[in-house]
Amino acid sequence: MIKKGIILSGGLGTRMSPLTKAVNKQLLPIYDKPLIFYPLSILMLAKIKDILIIVNKGQLNQFKNILPEKNNFGVTIHYKEQLKPKGLPDAFILGEKFINKSNVAMILGDNFFYGQNLSKLLINCAKIKKGAKIILHNVQNPELFGVAKLDTKNKKIIKIIEKPKKFISNNAITGLYFFDNNVVKYAKKLKPSKRGELEITDLIYEYKKRNRLKFEMIGRGAIWSDAGKIEDLSNVSSYVKSVEKVQGIKIACLEEISLLKKWIDKKKIA
Ligand code: TTP
Repeated sequence: MIKKGIILSGGLGTRMSPLTKAVNKQLLPIYDKPLIFYPLSILMLAKIKDILIIVNKGQLNQFKNILPEKNNFGVTIHYKEQLKPKGLPDAFILGEKFINKSNVAMILGDNFFYGQNLSKLLINCAKIKKGAKIILHNVQNPELFGVAKLDTKNKKIIKIIEKPKKFISNNAITGLYFFDNNVVKYAKKLKPSKRGELEITDLIYEYKKRNRLKFEMIGRGAIWSDAGKIEDLSNVSSYVKSVEKVQGIKIACLEEISLLKKWIDKKKIA
């Protein structure tokens, strides 16, 4: 089982300026809690409780006020600063010491997942020993995402393209990835793309070309959104509000997940 996870929570958040001028995007509210609680809850549901959060230089205290390193409902949090946004694979270069000899999951700090059978899917993904597993979700606007073309019969990925100009498929690659320990070695070999960043699709390609890439699809009973724009933040907030109000439950209640996983007891919650 993968026991370590990284939440990549730096970035400039330019599309959400001026909100992000003083506060990091991942700390903005999605209805009743900070955005970062949602990806953190996803790692916890995958039974991952050793977590590295990568943050922008100068924003460490903002995060530590909300998620201290210790006494986090049975979860251990480590922090690392990223001096400037160099691209998603930088997470594995910055996280080399934390990852050590383990396999590792990575989730983007602005990604929201919710729905039926998700816990089962997550626990299944965390079982990978060799290779990589990515999570796909159908979208209407694939030109905005990294996209995978599938051979569904053989459950294989044929092609991966970052923001395809010509339609190849609707399967967007979400911001949740499960990698074996080679990820550090592969990330270090990557060269920045034309836009000057290390690209996650290039990293995933390292696994594809070795025939070591697998995927899971999130079906219609679940949703995924990367809350990168104001509109997304507002839509996801409304969604969480509706589900919580109508059903009388909480989405991404970290204490509740810990209690269910028996990492803390009722006394601690009280
Ligand atoms: P993006 O949405 O690509 O970038 P951003 O958050 O800076 O927003 P904008 O495009 O509006 O400027 O980033 C996706 C996620 O990854 C987000 O949670 C921030 C994080 N990230 C880092 O932590 N470090 C990086 O080097 C990059 C590129 C992103």
